Amino acid sequence: MVKRILGIETSCDETAAAVIKDGCRILSNVVATQMDLHARYGGVFPEMASRQHILSIIPVIRQAMAEAKTGWDDLDAVAVVYGPGLPGSLLVGVNVAKGLALGRGLPLIGVNHIEAHILTNWLMLNDEPPAIEFPLVCLVVSGGHTELVLMRDFGQYTRLGATIDDAAGEAFDKVGRLLGLPYPGGPAIEKAAQEGSPVAFSLPRAWLKGTYDFSFSGLKTAVLHIVQRYETQSSKPRPGGTKRKLARPTKLVRPLPVANLAASFQAAVTDVLAEKTRLAAEASGARCVLLAGGVAANQALRRSVREQAGLPVFYPPPHLCTDNAAGVGVAGYRALLEGRVSDWDLDVVPGLRLVKGTQA
Ligand code: KG4
Ligand code: ZN
Repeated sequence: MVKRILGIETSCDETAAAVIKDGCRILSNVVATQMDLHARYGGVFPEMASRQHILSIIPVIRQAMAEAKTGWDDLDAVAVVYGPGLPGSLLVGVNVAKGLALGRGLPLIGVNHIEAHILTNWLMLNDEPPAIEFPLVCLVVSGGHTELVLMRDFGQYTRLGATIDDAAGEAFDKVGRLLGLPYPGGPAIEKAAQEGSPVAFSLPRAWLKGTYDFSFSGLKTAVLHIVQRYETQSSKPRPGGTKRKLARPTKLVRPLPVANLAASFQAAVTDVLAEKTRLAAEASGARCVLLAGGVAANQALRRSVREQAGLPVFYPPPHLCTDNAAGVGVAGYRALLEGRVSDWDLDVVPGLRLVKGTQA
């Protein structure tokens, strides 16, 4: 039977709604980004994010329904991200989803943000379903998460490793700020790196041998020290806080080699991500590799994983790697198939994990 799910996502700074048919076809996918709003602060300003979601959510849902040529009576469920994410932002999506589901007599399905990123890989972009086979290893790399997950089937996740400090996207954003690039740092670094050499600077790679864990804070500090060598005067010292210390220097003795630093940093991140993904896939007998999350939009990462994995590698197109609601619709469909419907007291869980009993 045809199933149509309205997916809603407001976990961070994108207000998104999508209508997904049968867990694989995108009928509509609308994303209202708040990027410009937060760019002036160099990162997401949580209260402004929630307020902007309140303004955007209804128009975004209306547009998603209109573009999908879907009436309210054609829907089978409303799925919404309830964590992980910013509490105030998540609350907007969850409450709107509750109101719609209650008002229309539809099931409400709470979806894990990370799972939505992963399941985005099952969307059909041509007429063929992706030939994804279990068991597989998925590298989840976003602004808030970096983990390697073994997936034996839908809903069966085992965490193999994760970052012990910054998420990969967070490292891109912080280094972007150091290099004076606009927020978000990931796409800006990727663009700047195109003009630079990945071997211009020899930057550290934290291999954390014998684990599938990651660490990016040493790399970030190494970039900071290089940047400091180019400055005459740092920003006024402010008490504590990495963000402060990572503020861009005010005066430079020589022009900062932004392209070379961006390329060298990107190579250091992608080398480790790709190598650990290969090792994890090999050790777990994976039949393919998936990439998911905002950093999976990075072409250098996709290339490295493709070159190293020795297995089929799947990743969503770039606009479906960053936050959107299409994957929420896929996750909602799977939950509906399995009869997993949420109660009306569904609350937001900002620190929600993919695998129970692990650190967020
Ligand atoms: O998945 P996402 O949209 O939000 C979270 O769940 O965090 O990921 C956002 C992160 C940001 O840190 C952003 O800088 C990074 O993904 N990102 C990229 C690229 N596009 C987005 N990082 C590297 N290269 C990109 N092209
Ligand atoms: Zn995300």
